[in-house]
Amino acid sequence: MSFNLQSSKKLFIFLGKSLFSLLEAMIFALLPKPRKNVAGEIVLITGAGSGLGRLLALQFARLGSVLVLWDINKEGNEETCKMAREAGATRVHAYTCDCSQKEGVYRVADQVKKEVGDVSILINNAGIVTGKKFLDCPDELMEKSFDVNFKAHLWTYKAFLPAMIANDHGHLVCISSSAGLSGVNGLADYCASKFAAFGFAESVFVETFVQKQKGIKTTIVCPFFIKTGMFEGCTTGCPSLLPILEPKYAVEKIVEAILQEKMYLYMPKLLYFMMFLKRLHLAQDGSECLTEAMWDRAKDPGQAIRNSGLRSHYSLSL
Ligand SMILES: NC(=O)c1ccc[n+]([C@@H]2O[C@H](COP(=O)([O-])OP(=O)(O)OC[C@H]3O[C@@H](n4cnc5c(N)ncnc54)[C@H](O)[C@@H]3O)[C@@H](O)[C@H]2O)c1
Repeated sequence: MSFNLQSSKKLFIFLGKSLFSLLEAMIFALLPKPRKNVAGEIVLITGAGSGLGRLLALQFARLGSVLVLWDINKEGNEETCKMAREAGATRVHAYTCDCSQKEGVYRVADQVKKEVGDVSILINNAGIVTGKKFLDCPDELMEKSFDVNFKAHLWTYKAFLPAMIANDHGHLVCISSSAGLSGVNGLADYCASKFAAFGFAESVFVETFVQKQKGIKTTIVCPFFIKTGMFEGCTTGCPSLLPILEPKYAVEKIVEAILQEKMYLYMPKLLYFMMFLKRLHLAQDGSECLTEAMWDRAKDPGQAIRNSGLRSHYSLSL
């Protein structure tokens, strides 16, 4: 009897909280949430040497943040550093770091703590794509996908989360992908690494939430294709519904989501609906549509990797 009472109480609390969240979401869909001030915050961006990472750096430069830029590509990273200064950043620090190497991440993280201070916004953005069918993909490349796209997040969290917890202040940003929401033909290792990154970020959020570390925020970003060159050669099967995103648009949305402390950002908006279908177990339609869209007219899936930077930084045979 008392068990039933306990369960009913828990159910009512759960329903009450769900209703509150729904109302909150509806209100904030109409009224934009206030944006936080990130001037003076120490923002670390991995993969800052090109693409989204570079544009994110420029946006945070304009917002007055202190920038810590990491990339395996020294030249690209230094170029971003220069551009950030031109965009108004007064404190920019570029470090060459291979995020796939745990010891390297810990070593450079220690250097950052000594030379710059405690990172308060960590953006795990560095990524690579192999672009090969599962059975054709060499083991080393699949391991590298996991090392960069997922395991690097473990090491950066280990390095910077303790100070965020101590200060009860921080923001963890995971650049996952629409491929972290739905399996995609020809992207098995990439999808798996992006699912892992998503699950990890969500789990650590729950862990900090349960421990009442309310000052630590999380934003998980899942974009469809963006015109950065990473997936060059791939076209969308339904451009009106699932357009290939402009990098500038994607980065504005990401920064907006961080400033509004949104937990999830899917782009374009149709992805929310597709994921809703997936949760209703009408998944196949959603996944098929995504898959079709992803590789519809990609004549050579391997083309993606040739543009991903992987070849230049890791001498693996493709
Ligand atoms: N471009 C897209 O269509 C798309 C879509 C969804 C998600 N994403 C994700 O967005 C993120 C940024 O991608 P992008 O499109 O800007 O690609 P990009 O190739 O332009 O940038 C990736 C950056 O990561 C760096 N990098 C690669 N390996 C590294 C390592 N081991 N250590 C440090 N830096 C490393 C590269 O040098 C490069 O500067 C990635 O995580 C990617 O998976 C991209």
